[in-house]
Amino acid sequence: MISYNEQERIFKLDTANTTYMIGIVDEENFVGHIYYGKKLKEADAAYLMRIDEPPFVPSLNNRERCSFYDCFPFEYPTAGVGDYREGCIGIRTAAGHVGCMLTYVSHEIMEGKPALSGLPATFGDAKECMTLKLVCEDHYVGLRVELLYTVFHEIDAITRSVKVTNIGADHIYLTKVYSACIDMDNRNFDMISLHGSWARERHIQRKAIGYGIQNVSSFRGESSHQDHPFLALVDKNTTQEHGEIYAMNFVYSGNFRAQAEVTQFDSVRMTMGIHPENFCWKLSSKESFQAPEVVMVYTDQGFDAMTTTFHKLYKNHLIRGEYKNKKRPILINNWEATYFEFDTEKLLSIAKEASKLGIEMLVMDDGWFGKRNSDNCALGDWKVNEEKIKGGLKYLVDEVNKLGMKFGIWFEPEMISPDSDLYREHPDWAIAIPGRPGTQARQQLVLDLSRQEVVDCIYEQVASVLRSANIEYVKWDMNRQLTDIGSSGLPADRQGEVYHRYMLAVYQMQERLTQEFPYLLLENCSGGGARFDPGMLYYSPQIWCSDDTDAIERLEIQEGTALIYPLSTMGAHVSDCPNHALKRVTPFETRGIVALAGTFGYELDVTRIPQEDREMIPSQVELYHKYNDLVREGDYYRLASYSQNRQFDCWQVVSEDKTQALVTFVQVLNRVNFKSRRILLKGLDENKQYQVEFVNENSIKTKIYHADTLMNGGLLIPYPQGDFQARLIFLTEVN
Ligand code: DGJ
Repeated sequence: MISYNEQERIFKLDTANTTYMIGIVDEENFVGHIYYGKKLKEADAAYLMRIDEPPFVPSLNNRERCSFYDCFPFEYPTAGVGDYREGCIGIRTAAGHVGCMLTYVSHEIMEGKPALSGLPATFGDAKECMTLKLVCEDHYVGLRVELLYTVFHEIDAITRSVKVTNIGADHIYLTKVYSACIDMDNRNFDMISLHGSWARERHIQRKAIGYGIQNVSSFRGESSHQDHPFLALVDKNTTQEHGEIYAMNFVYSGNFRAQAEVTQFDSVRMTMGIHPENFCWKLSSKESFQAPEVVMVYTDQGFDAMTTTFHKLYKNHLIRGEYKNKKRPILINNWEATYFEFDTEKLLSIAKEASKLGIEMLVMDDGWFGKRNSDNCALGDWKVNEEKIKGGLKYLVDEVNKLGMKFGIWFEPEMISPDSDLYREHPDWAIAIPGRPGTQARQQLVLDLSRQEVVDCIYEQVASVLRSANIEYVKWDMNRQLTDIGSSGLPADRQGEVYHRYMLAVYQMQERLTQEFPYLLLENCSGGGARFDPGMLYYSPQIWCSDDTDAIERLEIQEGTALIYPLSTMGAHVSDCPNHALKRVTPFETRGIVALAGTFGYELDVTRIPQEDREMIPSQVELYHKYNDLVREGDYYRLASYSQNRQFDCWQVVSEDKTQALVTFVQVLNRVNFKSRRILLKGLDENKQYQVEFVNENSIKTKIYHADTLMNGGLLIPYPQGDFQARLIFLTEVN
């Protein structure tokens, strides 16, 4: 619900449990942030902007205008005329000046939500959401900025984006454009971010914020392993179940910055948007720039509530396509099974064995094209290597299909190897600074996707492979970050557009792919989980979570990922031991149980693993079929965190109608002479009783308990024997 109080000049944006309020003040129409938080009955809380205190508004005290600019809680702050905190927008006029101040011009309130041209974004119809468009201008520089706010009422989320238009006669350079800002009082907040590295993605980090600027960011050309386009400011006392959270998540897969600036007056400016590093977009007269979307979530009910909101929003209003609400085929991927050493015969031997065990799809990973026998060549040459794939791709796919399995394939479309036919033919197609040798990573360079002819050529190569056989899944990989930013297709004053044009092209290619092959299951991937973000989720319902498939390392990675993203999106596989990344040995059963929390599949040579592991696969497959609807669609709750307690991990999913629940418990290191663990369950219907079944613990009989006992008294999980032990506990309502 969005309303405008014309007399007081206040916009009130309400969701089921939150209110967001914006006010227009003074004769000059400054746009200020009044409030974001728990739902308010009050329609006029303008006093919260403190304009009745010194330095007052400019019409009353123009001699101290600068002080007003430097403390007013701007809804979309600018720079260069007196607000010394970091602004959301940076411009440079044709004459070289940077000052800017945006004031209110008009607004529109509409039902539903407009799409953002060329960008991934959440969507919803008139019944689900409502949008406010606030139009602001700076007529000195000829700039119009449209601030878009969409309220997802039931879901309790608000999304924001920004469109900038040059309404002047001369060109303007846009040097910064963030997508969201909340200017509020600091309440001694902690900040939550997701930090990582290759094979250690999205570990939850919590720390106090202090005066000055603290931020998380990426200017690696992708959302990255290292930092994540997510930031939450939370009360010191916020826990899983209680406390305030202001969270922002960026629906974008490229460079970003998320920041909290605590000021001299103890206010905090929380911002998120495209990283300004090497960003400079030339806007000729009448041209516009659409900045990506930020999702904002507020709750006073702790992390569980925040997570539920993000999960609901993404499941219903971001993820699209055939597999949105569908169980995904259990796949077996040959990467960790064979690396580059495979041929038709080897793949078919894996498929034959896998099909007998109930696995439903074979995915052929890196190494099937050009002269690609190692990771040092051939990216860009998307032609089947028939020396390896003897009989051709169609033959292989048909043979796999005959086994009753689907077939999937790997691509890395954004890359070019210096040792490739493509590079030999088009050396100028790599992103590069003329005259400077490009910095290689994994011996590859990045294609200059800011050039449409490059996009078209690569898209056609990929699509013609997909058209040549019955391919039902694509893993879209990206194995290096961007450096040496330069495009031979753009003039000097547009080189600062390359990063964003690159992202727009990736989105364009994935949109084309999903339009032409609507039945395709697309899984994004980036050297593991470096591009696991809402932008990519708009195109692919699942993303490879990490190259680290060790069941214990995965606990932290999956916990951090599930803090925002639904379990249905987390690519998770059972792999062989010793684990290839870590050399740790964990029980096959535990590897299976941890992978069941995600999309579930295998990444091993099923013809060579120990017989007792192989024999366990049919029962894991059965568990997947039995529980995946619940895992995919249910509400997720964190019951205990290994990342915090360093002993054990525990999470739960509960079906929407609360008739079923699944608890997963993982004991990491065993402790001698210890008692069972008491775990308090969540989300059950407290008036009901549930039958509790220890799925993989034969000696324990099923028992019936009242939900309130399970949630307040808890469930005792018998002390597992040995390290790295996992338990699955299934609950069904009995009355
Ligand atoms: C990185 C991915 O994360 C792996 O799963 C695998 O596909 C390799 N790339 C292949 O090069």
